[in-house]
Amino acid sequence: MKLPDIKILNEKNKLLHKVSKEVIFPLSNENKKLINDMLLYLKLSQIEKYSTKYNLRPGMGLAFPQVGKLLRIFVICSEEEDESFTNYVIINPKIKSESEELIYVGEGEGCLSVDRDVEGIVPRHARITLEYFDIEGNKCNIRVREDIAVAFQHEIDHLNGILFTDKIDKKNPYKNQELMREI
Ligand code: NI
Repeated sequence: MKLPDIKILNEKNKLLHKVSKEVIFPLSNENKKLINDMLLYLKLSQIEKYSTKYNLRPGMGLAFPQVGKLLRIFVICSEEEDESFTNYVIINPKIKSESEELIYVGEGEGCLSVDRDVEGIVPRHARITLEYFDIEGNKCNIRVREDIAVAFQHEIDHLNGILFTDKIDKKNPYKNQELMREI
């Protein structure tokens, strides 16, 4: 499989710190292609053969601002236990409810736009429910939990110009750790 030609912006780029705009349907063919390219890129990045061949850092999520487009779209490609992949395409998401329980990724979060080691933990809701539109413009609902819920919240933050590094207290990177569950 050939690596899609997409350019991922680095955290220093101003676009990553701006709020993205709501999508108006129908989606252009260009944006539909970009969605498919982003999903394929994420999948290949998680398959060792391709991540080695193309020198990719593994990632499971990308938001449109990371490829230079300020639109409220993100994609997630998640590997299942049987080594198949589940794709999510989420457009104009609105969080409807979030669990009180907070979790954090013990090994730290990563981001394809942040190419350095970052110490600290990011508080996330263990479960969230959201309303969104699919690629054809149909209104949908989804409830996600654990690592997928973390990925969704990380990507929604991108749509609001927020990076996970912005959510880590620099003076106390493990602040309130005892109030959250590690995953
Ligand atoms: Ni990210």
